Amino acid sequence: MLNPVIEQNNHTAKRIAIFASGAGSNAEKIIQHFRSHQIIEVALIVCNKQGAGVLQIAADNKIEVLLIEKEKFFRGNGYVDELKSAGIGFIVLAGFLWKIPEVLIGAYRNRIINIHPALLPKYGGKGMYGSKVHEAVIAAGEKESGITIHYVDEHYDNGDVIFQATCPVLSNDTPEALAHRIHQLEHNNFPQVVESCINKF
Ligand code: GAR
Repeated sequence: MLNPVIEQNNHTAKRIAIFASGAGSNAEKIIQHFRSHQIIEVALIVCNKQGAGVLQIAADNKIEVLLIEKEKFFRGNGYVDELKSAGIGFIVLAGFLWKIPEVLIGAYRNRIINIHPALLPKYGGKGMYGSKVHEAVIAAGEKESGITIHYVDEHYDNGDVIFQATCPVLSNDTPEALAHRIHQLEHNNFPQVVESCINKF
């Protein structure tokens, strides 16, 4: 197993990779949170989509990018070698839409966390991402939704829950309005939860 703690510039650094496929607003909040952190560093943005907003966020913050391709991710080594040689000890999924292959989960067991924009175990699973989740929550007439931060295992949205927070679903909510409320909840909580998880090892 990869030792997450590596010696760098005479101090002990914990290097994290953020995997994201889209706009990257959560990635940006996490980057800001750790910008002047003494030990934890967002060292890499991993993205599967050319042109994704998160790539501009990485460029603005001078963070290295690894653009991954499907064949190698799912049928190769899951980019484990690249992540290890970059000294990555912890992985944060922030709006990353591909399933994580077993080889990568095995190499980073209990060191990959995901954020999901609903109260798992409801409204999770394959195909449940972004606005599809909010559409389903509204269509079901839920009065409450929220966010779930959890460890990643071999199954979609299944690993142990680390943190949940709730918000109301209003009677006239559109998926966009609910998404906005959920994003606020994510931005206000995800960076701190990432930090407390990393501090555990
Ligand atoms: C977030 O709301 C996150 O919870 C969701 O994608 C959005 C990404 O937003 N993730 C999923 O739906 C995973 N199943 P961002 O790119 O602005 O951070």
